[in-house]
Amino acid sequence: MSRTVLVTGGGTGIGRAVAAAFAAGGDHVVITGRRAEVLHHTAKEIGPLVTALPCDATDPDQLQDLRGRLPDTVHVLVNNAGGNRDLGAAPTADLRLLAERWRANLDANLLAAVLTTAAVDQLLTDGGAVVNVGSFAADRGAGSYGASKAAMNTWNIALARQFGPRGVTCNVVAPGYVEDTEFFGDRRSEQFRRDRVAETLVGRAGRTEDVAEVVRFLASPAARHITGQVLRVDGGVIPTR
Ligand SMILES: NC(=O)c1ccc[n+]([C@@H]2O[C@H](COP(=O)([O-])OP(=O)(O)OC[C@H]3O[C@@H](n4cnc5c(N)ncnc54)[C@H](OP(=O)(O)O)[C@@H]3O)[C@@H](O)[C@H]2O)c1
Repeated sequence: MSRTVLVTGGGTGIGRAVAAAFAAGGDHVVITGRRAEVLHHTAKEIGPLVTALPCDATDPDQLQDLRGRLPDTVHVLVNNAGGNRDLGAAPTADLRLLAERWRANLDANLLAAVLTTAAVDQLLTDGGAVVNVGSFAADRGAGSYGASKAAMNTWNIALARQFGPRGVTCNVVAPGYVEDTEFFGDRRSEQFRRDRVAETLVGRAGRTEDVAEVVRFLASPAARHITGQVLRVDGGVIPTR
C-alpha cells in the first residue's frame, strides 16, 4: 500500500535521506523546510513521489496553511526539522541574549514537533506512526539543544499515550554524530570529527541512511508494538542494558 509521509526539514541531511527511503519504497512523501529552492531541488532529485511544500515548522500560521495543502490522510509524520541554534556560541552573562538562545533551540527542536503534530493530528490515519528525530545530546548533559531534545523525549511519551487508542505509534530516533548534513555548517574541525568517531563502538561516523532506515522501520508493520520509545542510532556511544 502506498502511504503519505510528511517529513519536516526534508530538504537536506537526515530528512532528505528519510524522504528518499520512503519514496524508494513507493510512498508519497511531502517534504517541508524554510528554503523553498532547497526543497524543490531535493524533490526534483529524489523523484516524482516527492512534493515540496515550504513551511516553517515553528510558525503556527504557516502550519495552518500547510494543513490545508496536505492530502486528506497522512500515514506517517516524521518530525525531523531542527538543529542547534546555539552551536559554538560563547557563554554569556547577558540574560536577554541567554533567553533568546534558549527560546531559539526550544522553538526549533521542541515546539516545531509539537506544533506540526497538532497541525496534522486530524489527518493522521488510525494505525499510522509519528517518528520524532531527537538526539543523543538529550542524555549527555548538553545545554539548550540537549535540553530541547530531552524535552522531546518526555513529550513523546505523552503523545504515545494520547495516540495509542488510535493505533498510532510514537517514537523518537536519537542519532549520534551524523555526517553529510548541514547541521555543523563549517564549524567542524578534523580533530572534532576524530573525537566523535572515537566515541563510537563501531569506529565510524553515522550516515544519514543509518537514521533513515530506522525511521522507516518504526513506521513499518514490523514495528506496530513499539511505541513511547527512544531508539538511539549512535554507533554505541551511549550503550544501554
Ligand atoms: N547531524 C547530526 O549529527 C545530528 C545528530 C543528532 C540529531 N540530529 C537531528 O537531526 C535532525 C536533522 O538535522 P540534520 O543533521 O539532517 O541537519 P540539517 O541538514 O541542517 O537538516 C535540518 C533541516 O531542517 C530544516 N529546518 C530547520 N528549521 C526548520 C523549521 N523551523 N521549519 C522547517 N524546517 C526547518 C532545514 O531546512 P531550512 O533551513 O531550509 O528550514 C534543514 O533542511 C535535527 O532535528 C537535528 O537536531 C542531527
